[in-house]
Amino acid sequence: MKFTLNDIADLYCGAGQTLYGGEAVSQLAHALQSAHFAEQAHASPYLITAALLHDIGHILAGQQNDDVDAGIDDRHESVAIAALKPLFGQRVLAPIALHVEAKRYLSAIDPAYHTTLSPASQKSLILQGGVMSKAEVQRFASNHFADDAVFLRRCDDQAKIPDLPTKPLAHYLAIAASVCQSEVVA
Ligand SMILES: [Fe+2]
Repeated sequence: MKFTLNDIADLYCGAGQTLYGGEAVSQLAHALQSAHFAEQAHASPYLITAALLHDIGHILAGQQNDDVDAGIDDRHESVAIAALKPLFGQRVLAPIALHVEAKRYLSAIDPAYHTTLSPASQKSLILQGGVMSKAEVQRFASNHFADDAVFLRRCDDQAKIPDLPTKPLAHYLAIAASVCQSEVVA
Protein backbone atom coordinates (compact mmCIF):
# COMPACT_ATOMS: atom_id res chain seq x y z
CA MET A 1 0.00 0.00 0.00
CA LYS A 2 1.28 3.45 -0.89
CA PHE A 3 1.95 5.86 1.97
CA THR A 4 0.12 9.18 1.41
CA LEU A 5 -0.10 12.61 3.03
CA ASN A 6 -3.45 11.53 4.47
CA ASP A 7 -1.68 8.62 6.17
CA ILE A 8 0.79 11.12 7.62
CA ALA A 9 -2.05 13.27 8.97
CA ASP A 10 -3.69 10.19 10.50
CA LEU A 11 -0.43 9.12 12.13
CA TYR A 12 0.17 12.48 13.77
CA CYS A 13 -3.44 12.81 14.94
CA GLY A 14 -3.38 9.24 16.32
CA ALA A 15 -0.14 7.76 17.59
CA GLY A 16 1.50 11.19 17.27
CA GLN A 17 -0.35 12.34 20.38
CA THR A 18 1.93 10.17 22.50
CA LEU A 19 4.97 11.65 24.26
CA TYR A 20 8.10 12.17 22.20
CA GLY A 21 10.67 9.79 23.70
CA GLY A 22 11.73 11.18 27.06
CA GLU A 23 10.63 14.75 26.30
CA ALA A 24 7.82 16.92 27.71
CA VAL A 25 5.99 17.30 24.38
CA SER A 26 4.06 14.93 22.10
CA GLN A 27 5.36 13.66 18.77
CA LEU A 28 2.82 15.94 17.07
CA ALA A 29 3.90 19.02 19.06
CA HIS A 30 7.55 18.24 18.33
CA ALA A 31 6.82 17.97 14.60
CA LEU A 32 4.79 21.20 14.54
CA GLN A 33 7.40 23.10 16.54
CA SER A 34 10.22 21.87 14.29
CA ALA A 35 8.30 23.08 11.21
CA HIS A 36 7.44 26.32 13.03
CA PHE A 37 11.08 27.15 13.72
CA ALA A 38 12.03 26.30 10.14
CA GLU A 39 9.28 28.55 8.78
CA GLN A 40 10.24 31.37 11.17
CA ALA A 41 13.78 31.18 9.77
CA HIS A 42 12.37 31.55 6.22
CA ALA A 43 13.51 28.07 5.21
CA SER A 44 12.46 26.58 1.86
CA PRO A 45 9.25 24.53 1.68
CA TYR A 46 11.49 21.46 1.29
CA LEU A 47 13.21 22.14 4.62
CA ILE A 48 9.96 23.04 6.39
CA THR A 49 8.59 19.71 5.19
CA ALA A 50 11.73 17.90 6.33
CA ALA A 51 11.42 19.57 9.74
CA LEU A 52 7.77 18.53 10.03
CA LEU A 53 8.46 14.90 9.10
CA HIS A 54 11.97 14.28 10.43
CA ASP A 55 10.85 12.10 13.33
CA ILE A 56 7.90 10.31 11.74
CA GLY A 57 10.09 7.20 11.89
CA HIS A 58 9.66 7.18 15.68
CA ILE A 59 5.88 6.87 15.24
CA LEU A 60 6.17 4.29 12.47
CA ALA A 61 8.63 2.26 14.53
CA GLY A 62 6.32 2.41 17.55
CA GLN A 63 8.89 4.06 19.81
CA GLN A 64 7.96 3.86 23.48
CA ASN A 65 8.63 6.75 25.85
CA ASP A 66 11.26 4.77 27.78
CA ASP A 67 13.05 3.20 24.78
CA VAL A 68 16.12 5.42 25.14
CA ASP A 69 16.43 4.53 28.83
CA ALA A 70 16.16 0.88 27.81
CA GLY A 71 19.07 1.32 25.39
CA ILE A 72 16.96 0.96 22.24
CA ASP A 73 17.84 2.90 19.07
CA ASP A 74 14.84 2.51 16.74
CA ARG A 75 16.86 3.74 13.70
CA HIS A 76 14.02 6.16 13.08
CA GLU A 77 15.78 8.12 10.36
CA SER A 78 16.02 4.99 8.18
CA VAL A 79 12.40 4.03 8.93
CA ALA A 80 11.27 7.51 7.86
CA ILE A 81 13.19 7.43 4.60
CA ALA A 82 11.74 4.05 3.61
CA ALA A 83 8.19 5.40 4.12
CA LEU A 84 8.69 8.85 2.60
CA LYS A 85 10.74 7.88 -0.46
CA PRO A 86 7.73 7.56 -2.79
CA LEU A 87 6.50 11.02 -1.79
CA PHE A 88 9.50 13.34 -1.73
CA GLY A 89 12.83 14.06 -3.42
CA GLN A 90 16.28 14.45 -1.94
CA ARG A 91 15.77 18.04 -0.75
CA VAL A 92 13.28 16.66 1.79
CA LEU A 93 14.73 13.18 2.32
CA ALA A 94 18.44 13.95 2.69
CA PRO A 95 18.15 16.33 5.68
CA ILE A 96 15.89 13.78 7.40
CA ALA A 97 18.34 10.96 6.67
CA LEU A 98 21.21 13.07 8.07
CA HIS A 99 19.59 14.70 11.11
CA VAL A 100 20.96 12.14 13.58
CA GLU A 101 24.42 12.42 12.01
CA ALA A 102 24.09 16.20 12.33
CA LYS A 103 23.76 15.84 16.10
CA ARG A 104 26.89 13.68 16.21
CA TYR A 105 28.65 16.26 13.96
CA LEU A 106 27.65 19.33 15.99
CA SER A 107 28.69 17.58 19.20
CA ALA A 108 32.16 17.11 17.66
CA ILE A 109 32.73 20.61 16.25
CA ASP A 110 31.09 22.59 19.07
CA PRO A 111 31.72 21.32 22.61
CA ALA A 112 29.10 23.78 23.94
CA TYR A 113 26.44 22.23 21.68
CA HIS A 114 26.34 19.00 23.65
CA THR A 115 25.45 20.85 26.84
CA THR A 116 22.43 22.42 25.11
CA LEU A 117 20.92 19.02 24.26
CA SER A 118 18.05 17.74 26.36
CA PRO A 119 18.93 14.86 28.72
CA ALA A 120 17.04 12.41 26.47
CA SER A 121 18.92 13.65 23.40
CA GLN A 122 22.26 13.32 25.20
CA LYS A 123 21.37 9.72 26.06
CA SER A 124 20.24 8.84 22.53
CA LEU A 125 23.45 10.36 21.12
CA ILE A 126 25.39 7.56 22.77
CA LEU A 127 23.08 4.94 21.24
CA GLN A 128 23.44 6.63 17.84
CA GLY A 129 27.23 6.33 17.73
CA GLY A 130 28.32 9.20 19.98
CA VAL A 131 30.43 12.21 19.03
CA MET A 132 31.89 11.99 15.49
CA SER A 133 35.56 11.25 14.93
CA LYS A 134 37.66 13.69 12.87
CA ALA A 135 37.28 11.48 9.81
CA GLU A 136 33.51 11.31 10.25
CA VAL A 137 33.36 15.11 10.64
CA GLN A 138 35.21 15.57 7.35
CA ARG A 139 32.96 13.10 5.56
CA PHE A 140 29.79 14.70 6.92
CA ALA A 141 30.90 18.25 6.10
CA SER A 142 31.54 17.27 2.48
CA ASN A 143 27.96 16.08 2.02
CA HIS A 144 25.95 18.34 -0.29
CA PHE A 145 23.10 18.39 2.23
CA ALA A 146 25.21 18.94 5.37
CA ASP A 147 24.07 22.55 5.86
CA ASP A 148 20.41 21.59 5.46
CA ALA A 149 20.83 18.73 7.95
CA VAL A 150 22.46 21.05 10.49
CA PHE A 151 19.66 23.59 10.01
CA LEU A 152 17.06 20.87 10.56
CA ARG A 153 18.94 19.73 13.65
CA ARG A 154 18.85 23.23 15.13
CA CYS A 155 15.07 23.38 14.58
CA ASP A 156 14.72 19.87 16.06
CA ASP A 157 16.69 20.72 19.19
CA GLN A 158 14.54 23.77 19.94
CA ALA A 159 11.24 21.98 19.34
CA LYS A 160 10.64 20.64 22.83
CA ILE A 161 8.79 23.52 24.49
CA PRO A 162 5.58 22.55 26.33
CA ASP A 163 2.50 24.44 25.09
CA LEU A 164 4.34 26.54 22.48
CA PRO A 165 1.64 27.84 20.09
CA THR A 166 2.17 26.94 16.41
CA LYS A 167 0.13 26.96 13.23
CA PRO A 168 -2.00 23.81 12.81
CA LEU A 169 -0.90 20.57 11.17
CA ALA A 170 -3.01 21.41 8.08
CA HIS A 171 -0.84 24.50 7.43
CA TYR A 172 2.37 22.48 7.35
CA LEU A 173 0.80 19.59 5.43
CA ALA A 174 -0.18 22.08 2.72
CA ILE A 175 3.49 23.06 2.48
CA ALA A 176 4.40 19.36 2.30
CA ALA A 177 1.81 18.86 -0.46
CA SER A 178 3.42 21.70 -2.44
CA VAL A 179 6.71 19.77 -2.64
CA CYS A 180 5.26 16.26 -2.79
CA GLN A 181 6.31 14.54 -5.98
CA SER A 182 3.70 11.81 -5.85
CA GLU A 183 0.38 12.10 -7.66
CA VAL A 184 -1.18 10.43 -4.61
CA VAL A 185 -1.27 13.40 -2.25
CA ALA A 186 -4.80 13.02 -0.94
FE1 LIG B 1 13.40 15.39 16.55
